[in-house]
Formats: sequence, structure tokens, C-alpha cells
Amino acid sequence: EKGTYPHFMLKEIDEQPFVIRRIIQKYQDDNDQIKLDPDVRKAMTECDRVYIIACGTSYHAGLVGKQFIEKLANVPVEVHVASEFSYNMPLISDKPLFVYISQSGETADSRAVLVETKAKGYPSLTITNVPGSTLSRESDYTLHLHAGPEIAVASTKAYTAQLAVLAILAVDTAQAKGIELDFDPMKELGIVANAMEALCDQKEEIERVAAEFLPTTRNCFFIGRSADYYVGLEGALKLKEISYIQAEGFAGGELKHGTIALIEEGTPVVALATQSNVNYSIRGNVKEVAARGANPCIISMKGMDQEGDTFVLPEVHELLTPLASVVPLQLIAYYAALHRDCDVDKPRNLAKSVTVE
Ligand code: F6R
Repeated sequence: EKGTYPHFMLKEIDEQPFVIRRIIQKYQDDNDQIKLDPDVRKAMTECDRVYIIACGTSYHAGLVGKQFIEKLANVPVEVHVASEFSYNMPLISDKPLFVYISQSGETADSRAVLVETKAKGYPSLTITNVPGSTLSRESDYTLHLHAGPEIAVASTKAYTAQLAVLAILAVDTAQAKGIELDFDPMKELGIVANAMEALCDQKEEIERVAAEFLPTTRNCFFIGRSADYYVGLEGALKLKEISYIQAEGFAGGELKHGTIALIEEGTPVVALATQSNVNYSIRGNVKEVAARGANPCIISMKGMDQEGDTFVLPEVHELLTPLASVVPLQLIAYYAALHRDCDVDKPRNLAKSVTVE
């Protein structure tokens, strides 16, 4: 039920802090240690490579998840769009683990890959919001997102839940492998939940950003580097699917290799600047597009912000910035769609779960 909310999407955006807190609770034991199916732990430590298979928003979560697993647990990860993987299968390592990320657990493209990898005898883990779903039933192991039903077609809380569960999975794997980390995922996710709450309290300000940058534009670009690039892809997907504004996410460094030709007077460019190691370079990219007439909307994080930034996020652990930086992008997409009288919860041509290949 929507309750007092005008749309499910807005309700689901607002639920994100609670979902993160629920995940912390569900994945923690009485001694504040990570609680995870021991078979999943075994599968993660025994494999020599993780293959993440997903579509759309869940694929974008997989890109961030790769960073978590590689940086924390030192396990190589490949991330593949399901529909591409099935007819263009790469060489598979000796001991692969296939990880399917799917909110609905019913996505036909992902299931097609699962059927194939199962036939080859490869182990599989599904990370899903629906434990009884097809992908969950047909794979060896399941991790539950605990996000509660997601009704709006545009995925919001499932994405941040996927990131939280992937971070916990990465840390658990690191611990099982005896890797020492100075990263407490539950504490840091608690900080993320508070940051999300603060962001959800700033809706008016974010609505103003949408009104300032996107009222009549035909297109919009999102740029970022490293994790910010992946979040930009997700921000662009949210915007295009519900507001029908043509939106594209690009790696900051790729601009000069072609995309910059698209920049015209007034083109909105949303630039994410939450990663300290690339802050200097992304700021350079903002100058490049601004010099060609773009209208840059800079979303930075406290500690890395500069005068003139459009919106500054509260500080969270650098690995977890996607969980915070995606929230204003979800809200910008929501308000842009609302201002254009679009059907926010049920955009044209889209279905909540895509059960055809
Ligand atoms: C975008 C969106 C889709 C889904 C994709 C995969 O907002 O909802 O891109 O993420 O269809 O769906 P699941 O995660 O159910 O496999």
C-alpha cells in the first residue's frame, strides 16, 4: 500500500534507510559477527573467480559489487549482462562461482544463463528480494535482500539492498580467508542508513535541482569515475525509464574520446564527485564540458566538496558512497518525471519483471 505517498517509487526511496538497517539486523548474530549461510561462505572461498550475471539496475549493482569483492576479499570478479552472456560465453575459470543478482528472481535473461551454467555443473548463488522465486529455487544458494516488496517499475530500494548485501558478502569472504580489514561493514552501513535518511529529508532541495537542470531538456549526461561512473549509469537509467529524457552515463575519462561532441549550450551534465582518488580528474572533466557550454550539476561528498557544487552528500565510507549518491539521482529522476506528468510508477513499455528473453 502507498499510504500517504503519491507514488510507490517515492515510498520505496524513503524506505531505504530502514531496509539497510533491516539488512544489518538480518546479517548479524548476537555477537555482532556476520551471520551468513556457511555454504555460501564455503562457495565464495573455494572459487577462483566470481561471475556476476544480471540485467538493468541489478547489473549496475553488480559493477559496484565487483569492486567490493575484489578490493575486500581479493577474489577476481567478472560482471556480465545476462542476455549477452548466454550467446557469447567467455572462457570460464577452473572453479567458477556464478552469482545471479535479481530483485524479482524471475528475469528470463538471467534464468537462461543459470540453466546453462547449471547444465555445466557450475555452482550458483542468487541474491534476490524474492526467496521463493525461480532463480532462488533453481540455484544452489540464496541470499535474501529483505527490501520488502518493490512495486514501482523503477528499482530503487532493491539496488541499495543489493549493494549492502554484496558488501557484507565481500567482508565475510575476506574474513573467511583470513584477510585483515579495517572496515566494519555493519558500522559503516549504519552510517549509510543515517546519511540516506538525511538525504530523504532534503527532497525539496533535490526537487529544485531537477527543476533547475531538467525542465525542458531533451537529453542529460551523467559522468563519474570509478564507483561514481557505475552510479552514473544507474542515475541515467532511472532518468530515462521514468522521465523519457534521453540520458547516458559515461566514464569521465571517455568524454574526450567522443562523447564530448554531444555537449551543446545548456546540456545538463550531472557529475558525481565522491571518490578522493579521482576528485581532481572529474573536476577537470567538469571544466571541459562547462567550457563547451554544458550546465554542470555537481554532486559531491562532504570533505571533497568545492564552492559552487550543486549538492553535497553527507560523508560515508568511500567504498559505500554508491549507496548514498544514488539517492539524489533517484529523487532527481522522480521529480523530473513528475514535472513532465509522466506515469512514475508504471512507465510506458516496461514491466516490473521481464519474464521473456
Ligand atoms: C530498472 C529496472 C530494471 C531491472 C531489470 C532486472 O529500474 O527495474 O532494469 O533492474 O529488469 O530485474 P531483476 O533485478 O528483477 O532481475
